[in-house]
Amino acid sequence: MNIEFVGSPAPQAAIAVLVFDGEKPAGPAGRWDQAAGGALSRAMGAGRFTGGKGQSLVLTAPAGLEATHLVAIGGGKQDGFDDLALENAAGSAYAAVKGSGSRTLAIDVSDLSAAQAARAAFAVRLGAYRFDKYRTTEKPEAKPSVTTVQIVAADPAAAQAAFSPLNAIADAVYFARDLVSEPSNVLYPEEYARRVKALEALGLKVEILGEAEMAKLGMNTLLCVGQGSRRESQTVIMRWEGDPASKDAPVAFIGKGVTFDTGGISIKPAEGMEDMKFDMGGSAAVVGLMHALAGRKAKVNAVGLIGLVENMPDGAAIKPGDVVTSLSGQTVEVINTDAEGRLVLADVLWYAQDRFKPRLMVDLATLTGAMIIALGHDYAGCFSNDDTLSDQLIAASKGVGEHLWRMPLTPLYEKQIESEIADMKNTGGRPGGSITAALFLQKFVNGVPWAHLDIAPTAWRKNTTNPVAPQGASGYGVRLLDRFVAENFES
Ligand code: BES
Ligand code: MN
Ligand code: ZN
Repeated sequence: MNIEFVGSPAPQAAIAVLVFDGEKPAGPAGRWDQAAGGALSRAMGAGRFTGGKGQSLVLTAPAGLEATHLVAIGGGKQDGFDDLALENAAGSAYAAVKGSGSRTLAIDVSDLSAAQAARAAFAVRLGAYRFDKYRTTEKPEAKPSVTTVQIVAADPAAAQAAFSPLNAIADAVYFARDLVSEPSNVLYPEEYARRVKALEALGLKVEILGEAEMAKLGMNTLLCVGQGSRRESQTVIMRWEGDPASKDAPVAFIGKGVTFDTGGISIKPAEGMEDMKFDMGGSAAVVGLMHALAGRKAKVNAVGLIGLVENMPDGAAIKPGDVVTSLSGQTVEVINTDAEGRLVLADVLWYAQDRFKPRLMVDLATLTGAMIIALGHDYAGCFSNDDTLSDQLIAASKGVGEHLWRMPLTPLYEKQIESEIADMKNTGGRPGGSITAALFLQKFVNGVPWAHLDIAPTAWRKNTTNPVAPQGASGYGVRLLDRFVAENFES
């Protein structure tokens, strides 16, 4: 899709304007209403559209205008109109017009600032994402008709400049969503590692550890997960050195990258198992973050580490009751081979703190179904050994609309993961399943300030109406982490 910042819309466009809840059309909405002989006001008077958040009103071929459509989008209450409300409105404008038959959508925000015009464009890009590379027979009339989105701005050049870093973030969200959307026959660990390696073109440094190197290091809890798979496990290390003069230790991000989770020998039921291609959503958020930092040349030093494995049942697979020695030296009794994410993260977390001595670590993982039971699908869970870090993450989440809720991380639940035969077991039963998973991870962070985001609820969305995150892969975490870095660690 083409995004243009312009001073006035192309003739044959669908023109979208903002109307605030309970207000008459004003600003650009007032001007276009007037040009159309008051058609918008009359339509508002005749129907239910009041300018409420999420509402839209489409007039087709309005008399007096060259435009194909005049579209009013509800901005919600004018005094609560912030960046997120604006994103919502711009995303809704695209959603209302994408299948209208018009090829051009022109969103008139000429009464807003350049920064706001840029944000409108950003929201449209986020909302317009589609993963259609495997659809060969989709009818043209089922595809979006809109191919160009114009943002009508008071100062188009300034808006274009303000869009540049946001566009880099949108590219990163797209990259993450593509990774999550890919089926696991295409995106297995080595192919995934290759796609990340290609990001060196953005200025990232990328290293890949294969099974031989990981075995030599002793990353046995990661390796044991992939030992039933025909695909070779990988750990990928990304470095972004955007602030070479800084003496501060880097910030580190770690992601679970299970390219498919069958459960292994503790196999999952067939129903819904296809969803487990998204079990690498945590790693995709980390890759997306690194993509965003490099894309907008963030002045920060960050490392991203992802553990990539496929969890399969097989004659060589790890079995319940097996005991494995992790990179940290701690031993783990594997009670359930479906609790594999924590085994992967245990070694990658330990490796990250040992090698990079980071000032903090944040891991993201589609770790537990229990997190969905606790929070539903709108919030991810945040577990942390550090109140400041947790507060910073939650503040960032509020800024970008990727909801995050703090969960308890207390030793009260430790006894659930005590083992009779090893230092710990990998499951603690159903009660508090997300908490015992987080406590397991904590044993591998070696006291470093750390937060664990269980994004099982939010990585993949069905039946969503979020105008900036359509069905399927949400890319959850990319914007959140990018904002977290921008607000706290960039010089
Ligand atoms: N990848 C799953 C968690 C998951 C489930 C994510 C559903 C998204 C949707 C994870 O590896 C898993 O299987 N966890 C088990 C842990 C249990 C065996 C202790 C679970 O949640 O059932
Ligand atoms: Mn599992
Ligand atoms: Zn899993």
